Amino acid sequence: MSKARHVAIIMDGNGRWAKKRHLPRVVGHERGVEAVRKLVRAAREMGLEALTLYAFSTENWRRPEDEVSALMGLLKRYILADLEEFVANNVRLRIIGDYSILASDIVALLDDALARTAGNNGTTLVVALNYGSQDEIARAATRAAAKGPITPETIEAELDTAGLPALDLLIRTSGEVRLSNFLLWQAAYTEMVFTDVLWPDFTPAHLEAALAEFAQRERRYGGR
Ligand code: FPP
Repeated sequence: MSKARHVAIIMDGNGRWAKKRHLPRVVGHERGVEAVRKLVRAAREMGLEALTLYAFSTENWRRPEDEVSALMGLLKRYILADLEEFVANNVRLRIIGDYSILASDIVALLDDALARTAGNNGTTLVVALNYGSQDEIARAATRAAAKGPITPETIEAELDTAGLPALDLLIRTSGEVRLSNFLLWQAAYTEMVFTDVLWPDFTPAHLEAALAEFAQRERRYGGR
């Protein structure tokens, strides 16, 4: 039995959740944010060290402009609404992915939220924004090469996730079974749980169930 320290989630199925109800896709994303809010609170209450959420990928720019701007607006509103709660509850925010290319008001908001929670040492909420694992590895390798020999360790030290606990568990919702350019390096020995639940329906009880499944798994890291 082991306890997971770091859990990452590919939050998939907002669109299908909305479609099933004949609602616009953006309503699915709105309900997805509600699921995020409840899950972040639960993660903090259960003492999880890090929760990494795939909010926007380097490939998501291919979506229609109105959906991209709706997602950006939701992200902005979520941070604005919950920042005081993070500060009060010792939640530290981190961003992975190159967020510098987002709209300047969002960059400023994120920089402020990062600075205001930098001293917190409770749960780290890691939000992946304009994140793609291949892009992250290429950026890390470039930095590592500038400093000296490239080894797994020197690359790892330059990843956006440097300093976070090793990724124990990766969850993907909505029945899709693929990694979609998320945490490819970090997932080398990660346990994975795939569930058919659509993201807006994902609750803290589903996280508890995934953690219980994780605790039952035997991890051998290539040994025996
Ligand atoms: C997948 O659903 C979900 C996304 C691409 C975005 C996830 C974003 C949020 C839950 C909201 C913003 C995030 C934060 C952290 C506040 P999909 O649209 O691919 O669903 P589908 O596959 O059913 O179409």
